[in-house]
Amino acid sequence: MSTAAAESNPREVRVIGIGTGSPAHVTGQAIAALRECDVFLVADKGEVKDELVAVRRLICEEFLDDGTYRIVTVTDPERGPDAERDRTAYRTGVDAWHAARADRYAEIIESLPTGETVGFLVWGDPAFYDSTIRIVDAVARRLPLRTQVIAGLSAIQVLAAEHGIVLNGIGQPVHITTGRRLLGEWSPELGTVVVMLDGALRCRELVERGPELTIHWGAYLGLPQQVLRVGPLADVIDELVELRTQLRDEHGWVMDTYALTPPSLA
Ligand SMILES: C[S@@+](CC[C@H](N)C(=O)[O-])C[C@H]1O[C@@H](n2cnc3c(N)ncnc32)[C@H](O)[C@@H]1O
Repeated sequence: MSTAAAESNPREVRVIGIGTGSPAHVTGQAIAALRECDVFLVADKGEVKDELVAVRRLICEEFLDDGTYRIVTVTDPERGPDAERDRTAYRTGVDAWHAARADRYAEIIESLPTGETVGFLVWGDPAFYDSTIRIVDAVARRLPLRTQVIAGLSAIQVLAAEHGIVLNGIGQPVHITTGRRLLGEWSPELGTVVVMLDGALRCRELVERGPELTIHWGAYLGLPQQVLRVGPLADVIDELVELRTQLRDEHGWVMDTYALTPPSLA
């Protein structure tokens, strides 16, 4: 297609939040969007995350007829050792990795037959700690795209629902952050703090600063192997650290999210 023709016929893209693993999380809007797609691009992050790719396949099988779509796995570019980087090096590393991913996706999308709609299946909701929207925006700077984003159930919402809690106190804030930032950011004024991406359960180091905190913790939320725990942080944290290691050994991977709630909420 000529550049002018491509610009007047942008490639259709759907960024679809699929929830955290259960087909029951997939919304009616997401199902409609899944059905519009001809090809799904799925990042292959290596063996450990195979199960996450498998869940995406199952969701397609559950809602789509055989032969109506294709799944293309895209090997993720190498990513540097985040844990050893300071904040600036971390940011530069992530930017370079996003650019490499955008180049790879742009190349694949360009090679697809004209008129095919491309889907990205995003774990949870695309608005929380997920790079897909940013990467698709970067691809759109390389070739014309028309993108629609479909909201999904986030691990944050599933955590709260499974524990049957409201995250905020009345009129109070909720702070969402990562394990990497937790210790630097935490203060009692934050209200409830929801922590994602914390492979080290760094909240262990808050026991002295927040002796009255309660932790609501959930692993594999929405999946058959879901595990929930709740209790005073000081009382349950050692058991949680052990449990997390056991679960990772048993399943080969673990994803967990937790909320630290002040006494007014617990
Ligand atoms: C890259 S972020 C993606 C978040 C996702 N976009 C969402 O809305 O849930 C990955 C983090 O989300 C959380 N997470 C995702 N799925 C989860 C699940 N099924 N159970 C527990 N935590 C989960 C974990 O904290 C994990 O480290």
